[in-house]
Amino acid sequence: MRIDVLSIFPGYLAPLELSLPGKARAKGLLDLSVHDLRDWAVDKHRTVDDTPYGGGAGMVMKPEPWGAALDAVAPDGAVLVVPTPSGIPFSQEIAAELSTREHLVFACGRYEGIDQRVLDEAAGRLEVRELSLGDYVLNGGEVAALAIIEAVVRLIPGFMGNAASLDEESHADGLLEYPVYTKPSSWRGHDVPEALLSGDHGRIAAWRAEQSERRTAERRPDLRHPSTLVDGRELRLAE
Ligand code: ADE
Repeated sequence: MRIDVLSIFPGYLAPLELSLPGKARAKGLLDLSVHDLRDWAVDKHRTVDDTPYGGGAGMVMKPEPWGAALDAVAPDGAVLVVPTPSGIPFSQEIAAELSTREHLVFACGRYEGIDQRVLDEAAGRLEVRELSLGDYVLNGGEVAALAIIEAVVRLIPGFMGNAASLDEESHADGLLEYPVYTKPSSWRGHDVPEALLSGDHGRIAAWRAEQSERRTAERRPDLRHPSTLVDGRELRLAE
């Protein structure tokens, strides 16, 4: 897989040298470059933002540097990922889908966002995915890009040593993961649940399944009973 990241703060993406993405690069599974958007600015001040048409607070990222940058780093057929709080919610399912693509380009916006025409024009030759990490606002797309890249890269075929751990983890089956314990069996007056010490694989599996169900019901009832509103009425998609 190839990943290019465009940002006015390339230093923010330094963690990509470490840990998981760093390992994927060392294994030859990932070719990753971070670019400074200002390299494509056209004036001597390397300006990348301007005031919004229609007025309002903040600044908007100008189309010209973005257009030139995407022409340079995003060939036809690449997937353009734009982290934004107005995107569709990023999920494990989307991570899995992106992990099968050849080339991802991340456009990290700052200020009030990127001039919409950049994305509209790019959609003519690239698959554009506007993705949100969650219902809160970050200062820019960089931290979101880091999170999305980490979630995607660990799913690249051949990357994780133990494929079983991918199947078992939170969200892979629509449930949250059960609690985990290691030695010692008693610590500061807290004991490891007895079922896990029993050596009975059937009992252990049943205990874990029950814990997953309970956690999901308590913390994320929306995952257990995905529903959506249609014409103001709740439509049950799954029981
Ligand atoms: N940029 C700013 N806030 C964001 C969010 N919540 N998700 C993705 N990108 C963002």
